Amino acid sequence: MKLIRSYGVPPFTVREYDRLGSTNDLLKSEAAELDDSSVAIAIEQTAGKGRLGRSFFSPGSGLYMSVLLKRNLTPEALNLLTPMTAVAVSDALEELGAGPVGIKWVNDLYIGGKKVCGILTETGMSGAKPLFAVIGIGVNISEPKGGFPEEIKSKAGAAFNDPPKNIREALAEKILKRLDIRLKSFETRDFLPEYRRRSILIGRMATAAGRRGTVAGIDDDCRLVLKDERGEFCISSGEAVADWENT
Ligand code: BTN
Repeated sequence: MKLIRSYGVPPFTVREYDRLGSTNDLLKSEAAELDDSSVAIAIEQTAGKGRLGRSFFSPGSGLYMSVLLKRNLTPEALNLLTPMTAVAVSDALEELGAGPVGIKWVNDLYIGGKKVCGILTETGMSGAKPLFAVIGIGVNISEPKGGFPEEIKSKAGAAFNDPPKNIREALAEKILKRLDIRLKSFETRDFLPEYRRRSILIGRMATAAGRRGTVAGIDDDCRLVLKDERGEFCISSGEAVADWENT
């Protein structure tokens, strides 16, 4: 790992590396010494991580960025960081000409039916008290050389066909600016209407927690609400698989 440069996008301080295992892992390992709003970016990750123990393909054709938050975060708020970030990243992508961006609960961003971004939030706790959160954002900016690997090829896509020069820097800066704005009003949960508006699950059939139903909405705690013949049920974590993903 070689530090390429450091710069500021106030209030964030950014360190950019050529290659890391995982930007989330770097910030977690340094969380005790680092300040709030520290950011790490890697041109390439050798052990990029996704949710639910999956890996995140990070070959150098994307933006792999993590943001450290060390501030008063309630345990309830932790679940809202990923959706709030999903809205910030969607807005940033569209400002740079990509999109329209849809959000698949809870952490995936889609363009044209393909996943172009995933978000992984990890936390450090002292008992029930959150000490820090690391929000990891992985955007497939362009098609990797040689294409996406076989196992993700049908699902993964690139956010831009013909990305402008310096897109990684421009996108990182836009996302951080959008995050700063969203974080300032985070406690009001004012990102929720936008999160719901961008949902590509609401009104569709999906399976979650072993039950298949119609996605009725997303509640104020960002839980996915589904409805089947037994009534309404909510899921607060895990995954919902839409019927259209199986076709
Ligand atoms: C997912 O799709 O399940 C989440 C993917 C999150 C990937 C990003 S890339 C930057 C940060 N570092 C990681 O190892 N993971 C996140």
